[in-house]
Amino acid sequence: MADKPIVLVTRKLPQAVEDRLRRDYEPRFNDEDRLYSSDELIARAEGADAILACHTEHLSAEVIARLPGSVRAIANFSVGVDHVDLAAAKARGITVTNTPDVLTDATAELTLLLMLGAARRAAEGEQLVRSGRWHSWSPSFMVGIQVTGKRLGIIGMGGVGQVTARRARGFDMSIHYHNRRRLAAEREAGAVFYGSVDELLPHCDFLALHCPATPDTQGLLDARRIALLPNGAIVVNAARGSIVDEAALLDALRSGKLAAAGLDVYNNEPDIDPAFRTLSNTFLLPHIGSATRETRDAMGQRALDNLDAVFAGREPRDRLV
Ligand code: DGY
Repeated sequence: MADKPIVLVTRKLPQAVEDRLRRDYEPRFNDEDRLYSSDELIARAEGADAILACHTEHLSAEVIARLPGSVRAIANFSVGVDHVDLAAAKARGITVTNTPDVLTDATAELTLLLMLGAARRAAEGEQLVRSGRWHSWSPSFMVGIQVTGKRLGIIGMGGVGQVTARRARGFDMSIHYHNRRRLAAEREAGAVFYGSVDELLPHCDFLALHCPATPDTQGLLDARRIALLPNGAIVVNAARGSIVDEAALLDALRSGKLAAAGLDVYNNEPDIDPAFRTLSNTFLLPHIGSATRETRDAMGQRALDNLDAVFAGREPRDRLV
């Protein structure tokens, strides 16, 4: 190992984070912020002690098996780690960390934006004004659905789910949720718990997905479950695209079963199913849940705290394996 640990940094990071990397490590930056192919990533990792990765890198079992033996740690600049095969990393003795907590507020904030944007037809309205095609006003013009006072169902009541619930109470929404474990009463704060997703769904005017992407949650919101929602419900997703059966979601948006969807995440980003773009009842954002200056700085600092711990022989706070 060189004097300072060598860190392969896969994407462009906030200035303060890159400055800290320059000070404490020997960083290999990606100044062009280009997405590396797996072969490039493996080649660039040659001799590196760690990789500071984002969810854009697919660290499958095959990629992890081909990483050079020098790599001791993968510090993720993300809370979600569905892009990393944790078992494969563990088998190779590679420490893997993530960045929980620090993106909770930003992601909850964006969930409210998705709800408001989808319900109040923000994309259509913005497009109308921007394109110069807004010519009149009438009582029946651009009528959407009111958010205030409605029932919000949340699947996954971790940090983001709980903060989303708190913000939604500001709109007088009643909160209904399903979580693997029921929350303690003080955390529940009056939210109604349902023991299964199926029991929750009939009570949701709005449904927000906040569970992690795992084999268990893959395609969780499928055609059968969408049918359990009230007619005209609105679905928002700021978690991961894989939680939703997108073909079923598109069918429900076309048929009017669902009034609208607000989406920040998709399968196969950024080459999303083009059908989403053709529907007027979708409010679409490009995976920016954590994209605030404050949060991106905090994510980078947290990833470096984890690396510091690994190289100082301490237990990293956010070790996953
Ligand atoms: C996360 O941290 O999981 C965000 O989706 C960005 O990767």
